[in-house]
Amino acid sequence: MTDTKKTVHGAWSSRFAFILAATGSAVGLGNIWKFPYITGENGGGAFVIVYLLCVLLIGIPIMIAETMLGRRSQKNPIEAMEVLTDEAGADHNWHYLGWMGVIAGLLILSYYSVIAGWASAYILKAFTGSFLDADALTIKKIFDDFVASPIQLIFWHSLFMLATMLIVVRGVNNGLEKAAQYLMPSLFVLIFALVGYAMTTDSYFQGLHFLFMPDFSKLTSNSVLTAMGHAFFTLSLGMGAIMVYGSYLSKNISIAKTAFLIAGADTIVALLAGIAIFPIVFANNLHPNSGPGLIFETLPIAFGSMTGGWLMGILFFVMLAVAALTSAISLIEPAVAWLVENKDFTREKACVWSGLVTWALGLGTVFSFNIWSNVKFFDRSIFQLLDYLTANLMLPIGGFCIAVFSGWIMKKHHSEQELNMPNETSYQIWKLLISYVAPGSVFLVFLHVIGVL
Ligand code: TRP
Repeated sequence: MTDTKKTVHGAWSSRFAFILAATGSAVGLGNIWKFPYITGENGGGAFVIVYLLCVLLIGIPIMIAETMLGRRSQKNPIEAMEVLTDEAGADHNWHYLGWMGVIAGLLILSYYSVIAGWASAYILKAFTGSFLDADALTIKKIFDDFVASPIQLIFWHSLFMLATMLIVVRGVNNGLEKAAQYLMPSLFVLIFALVGYAMTTDSYFQGLHFLFMPDFSKLTSNSVLTAMGHAFFTLSLGMGAIMVYGSYLSKNISIAKTAFLIAGADTIVALLAGIAIFPIVFANNLHPNSGPGLIFETLPIAFGSMTGGWLMGILFFVMLAVAALTSAISLIEPAVAWLVENKDFTREKACVWSGLVTWALGLGTVFSFNIWSNVKFFDRSIFQLLDYLTANLMLPIGGFCIAVFSGWIMKKHHSEQELNMPNETSYQIWKLLISYVAPGSVFLVFLHVIGVL
């Protein structure tokens, strides 16, 4: 801690704390809510394969790169890019990358919080026994009535934003670490229990078939873009969240190993969620492509009919809300860190302002499910537009820039030193992926979507 700025900047208490917090950031609604419904909308198996390939060839190398940029600079994303361009003797325009990240984070959080609000509301519904012995139709009606009410959605969205800001205000060690510590393992156990339930339905294999048997004729260029965007979204990449977390990381830790652990855990949770959900979908004659309501229309059926389902339902939605919370804090941390470190805001003031802006933006998503459901831009509701803009465009563009910067701009001996891989071959493989494969794939997918390829 040499200069004065760094005394403001936090630090993790251990490697384990970083892994927990980064896993907490990665595992969230993306795995349990979003992965199943976009898999359902994009036809299953083939989409899942593209997503897995994207995680392996694009996601993991970029996660390594993003963590590296954060740790090398020990700064928030906007300042990080300035410090790193100085070090590399490069153009200063790279700091716009930091800016885009801060904005993407706030935009994502604005709708993320609304959906996390749904999960929170479902804790109460589970508690009051709304799902007990309810059939698929009743469960769907509960969901439809709920999202039709702007007042209810605003209430839960506000509550979730408030909880997020209360944690963020307490800073790295007290807030972020403690929150992640106990809840991640418990979530794992509960999802396993749900998979157990799915096995008892007679559609278990139909669910597995849908999830893992690829039918490439169902794949459009937009599905490929969605799969790639989701690889960024689910690993929290492309907007500086992992960069901020990396900046709190001490120098003696292997970044690559950690990235594999985090990406592995994240992928397993998503696949297990899929394995739990699709058998329930088919067993109840529901449609896999029913959109953002999918888990809210399926899992309660399981809770309503299984033994111990009442308690499991409550626990599940508590875990889901908490998993969302540990993700939400990483979406807003870049903005808060920047306001504190560069604009001399107190942490409290930074939280209030960024929280208020995000909350207000979230109203757009709230209304897109009810009073503004007919308001469409490019054929998309406000929620769909925000999702497309951030997950499918901003994150891949951010990730592309991170890859190009790490592979081409940053001096080789700097990245080599920072990553400190066990052998030269591992470094060479990463270097190849980050310089060519990752940015090249993102570029090709974009060309394909705009119809050039
Ligand atoms: N990865 C989280 C999820 O899957 C969402 C998330 C948290 C995120 N931080 C992020 C997405 C940063 C993109 C960028 O639920």
